[in-house]
Amino acid sequence: MKIFAANWKLHKNPKETREFFAEFLKQVSPVADREIVFFPSTICLEATSQSLSSSKIKWGAQNCYYEAKGAFTGETSAQTVKDLGGQSVLIGHSERRAIFTETDELIAKKVSFIQGLGLTPLLCLGETLAQREAGETLKVLSQQLQTGLSKADKTKSLVIAYEPVWAIGTGRIATSAQVQEAHAAVFQNIQKLGFSSATAILYGGSVKPENSKELLAIPHVDGFLVGGASLEVASFKAICQS
Ligand code: PGA
Repeated sequence: MKIFAANWKLHKNPKETREFFAEFLKQVSPVADREIVFFPSTICLEATSQSLSSSKIKWGAQNCYYEAKGAFTGETSAQTVKDLGGQSVLIGHSERRAIFTETDELIAKKVSFIQGLGLTPLLCLGETLAQREAGETLKVLSQQLQTGLSKADKTKSLVIAYEPVWAIGTGRIATSAQVQEAHAAVFQNIQKLGFSSATAILYGGSVKPENSKELLAIPHVDGFLVGGASLEVASFKAICQS
């Protein structure tokens, strides 16, 4: 099974969301061993839910809180995502970690809460350029997995995305050797922590139609988390078909 996930970040409004899906559904139908999942911004989730209601394409939110409801101004409820028919929530994206100061401890609570609702957390990890240059990449990944998954249920579904921070939105792609080393390390860590060896590990960071085929051939690369190239039907379609 390969997973092709689209992270739209803070792009598109509900009208643009509906227009995208009208065109995408005309051009792309999911095939048996390939899953497609969209992560639009929170305010476009209802338009997404309506657009994809009779399709096999999945969707989810880019973030959520670890409570279903209450006095949490500005947060997103994973329960509402579920009520609308969503299946997944992105957790710990590097922009959440860097701009919104999310820690591995907070991320662990969110992962556990999402699993408790029966949704799939898509946990993002990755090293900064400074950490890579200091030779700390594998240590950072191991720490993010150990703490981020410390409250997770090993019997419930989980997806991981390895995204080197320096490759996100920069056009600077990790080399095949770097991707291979990181994915092998994530795979080993997941096994050591007692999670299923079938847990999908996606790669993210400047994935484009021009590099997706080569990346998908790397061992333990089970799909992609795509930012910029997922905003246009043509480029995301090409990646989904790579
Ligand atoms: P990018 O973003 O594909 O634009 O580099 C990836 C991500 O942030 O998930």
